[in-house]
Formats: sequence, structure tokens, C-alpha cells
Amino acid sequence: MRIGILTGGGDAPGLNGIIEAATRTLLNLGHEVIGVLDGFEGIYNNNFVDLNLDQVRGQHAFAGTLLGTSNRSGTDGREEEFKIAYDKLNLDGMIVAGGDGTFRCLQAIEGVKIIGVPKTIDNDLPGTDATFGYDTACEVVSDAIDDLRTTAVAHKRIIIIETMGRTAGWIALGGGMASMADAILIPERPLNLSKFKKFLNQKHKTQRGIIVVAAEGATLEDDVKRELDKSGASVMVSDYGIGERLAKWTEEEIQWEARHIVLGHLQRSHPPSTTDRFLTTAMGIVAARLAHKGEWGKAASFKNGQVTSVSIHSFMGPARNVDPKHRWVKMAQALGIFI
Ligand code: F6P
Repeated sequence: MRIGILTGGGDAPGLNGIIEAATRTLLNLGHEVIGVLDGFEGIYNNNFVDLNLDQVRGQHAFAGTLLGTSNRSGTDGREEEFKIAYDKLNLDGMIVAGGDGTFRCLQAIEGVKIIGVPKTIDNDLPGTDATFGYDTACEVVSDAIDDLRTTAVAHKRIIIIETMGRTAGWIALGGGMASMADAILIPERPLNLSKFKKFLNQKHKTQRGIIVVAAEGATLEDDVKRELDKSGASVMVSDYGIGERLAKWTEEEIQWEARHIVLGHLQRSHPPSTTDRFLTTAMGIVAARLAHKGEWGKAASFKNGQVTSVSIHSFMGPARNVDPKHRWVKMAQALGIFI
């Protein structure tokens, strides 16, 4: 068969691991593999490369995607154009690493056969217990906490670290727990400012410096104006810049010198962690085997400690946000972390 590989949506550490593992497995099974360039753009523009062993070997160690990606172009209103362009590629099917938006677009087009691989650093896709890139993002956050704690303590400051996660707090929670931040603020547990003020006042008296980790979408209890962002997700109107906002608030309300740092795309560009490498290797192999067997409409998924296959529709339900009473929240509370 002639199988395409496409990476769609925002990048995540591990995409190259999927490409390498799937390509190697497909080549070993005797198939031809092509890489579609720049996500859906590559379909519309007939832009692709033949993938061979020399091109993919060793790529798993790098973040980004050797095929390029785009989170700007969809298929809405362009279905016919997409189908004509797709047919020109003469593919038997495609392995697609993407989020629910990417899968939804492709499933809507008749004759496009795909195998899915769930991708987002946010870790909030349903149908899988974990997505690749998440572990690496947590590592970036926990390294930042360890590093910034030294300067916070040296200067007796509060440092607020803003992480990615517009609607889900997994990165702030996982990274914050891994390095035991003093406070972790996530969208799923709106912040009560008067309780936070009490906590900070107490810390100001007893601790030289502290670290607060806030997800970019962290919400305040009394501040719940929401809007839909470009991808249709419900986000807080005023919450971009939560780190800066809280730093200013802390200086005014607590009289404690504060600094903030936005980790931003560093969380997406770090070389994949060992855990993410292993996950993407296993997912790439499972996806390639599904394609080999012609089980289109299925996807690789991490369930109960192993990579298995599920229907691609499993990823299309509501986002898998942090349960406000999740066991990690309880662990944080047991440690005296404000959450
Ligand atoms: O969904 C993944 C994600 O990294 C979010 O955590 C973040 O808010 C968003 O993408 C950033 O998107 P962009 O790269 O388009 O700024």
C-alpha cells in the first residue's frame, strides 16, 4: 500500500517519534510511505515527500515535526477541494497525528481513510489516558520551578509561573506536583482570592520565597466571563496574562515583591522525555499495524498502562479536564500546597 503520514494542529514533543516509528514499521511491512507536508496545506497543495529510513532515523529525539504542521487551515466549506486534492495523492490511507478538530474534519470527507494518533500537550483528549508531549511539558514546568525557587528564595520574592493550558490544568498540576510548587492554580478549581490572600500573608511571614504555578486559563471565582476562542473552546475573556495579573495583585495586596514568567512555547519545543519517546514509539507501531491491516477509522490510544487501539470517535467527546477532586489535587492538599 501507499500510506501517507500527516501531522496536524499545534506541535507536541513526540510527533517525530510517531513519524519515525510508523515509517520504520510500515517500510518493514513492505509498504510505501509518504509524508504530507504542513498538515492540511500539504493536501491542498499536493506537497509531500517520500519517506525512507535515512530520512526518519534518529528523528524521535527532536521536538517539532519534520513534516511541518498548521493549526490554521481546516476543511470547512472546502470539502470538495480537499477530496479532489486528496485523491491526487493516490493514497490507500493516512496515519494522522492530531487532535479532535483534525480528526473531525477528516472523518467528514468521504473516501478519506485514516488511522488516528491522539496529540496534545494539554493531555485533555478523551479516549486515552495520556497524550504524548504532556510528560515533556510537565518536565519543562518542574525544571522551571526548581530553577526559579533559588532566585525566589535569594530575593525573598514570590514568582508566578504561567503554564500552557487554556481550559485544562493538567500541565500546571502535573508539573507543579512534580516539583512541589507552593500553590497550583488551574481552570477547573476557580481561585478564591480572599483564601489565596490569607495563604500568601501566612507564607510571607514564614517563608523567604515561594513559587506559584498558574495555568494560562486559571480562573478567579468572581470573574467568570467566558468566550469561545478560535478553536471553539470556552476560555476566560480576561485570563490571558494570569501570571502578570496575579503578580501585580500580590504586590498591591500583600506588599510582597513579585515576578512572573510565561513558559509558553518552551513547553512544546523541549526534546521529548523518555516517557514520551516510549509512548510515541509504541503508538507509531500500533498505528502502522492498524494501517497494514486496513483497520481504518481506528486509532492508537494509551489505556490501563498500555498502547492499544480504539475507535477514532473516542477522541471526539467532551474534553477530559481535571476532576476538581482528582487524587493529585488531594495529594497536593496533603502536602500543604494551595490549590
Ligand atoms: O492546545 C495546545 C496549546 O499548546 C495550548 O496549551 C495553548 O494555549 C495553545 O496550544 C497555543 O497555541 P498557538 O501555538 O497557536 O499559540
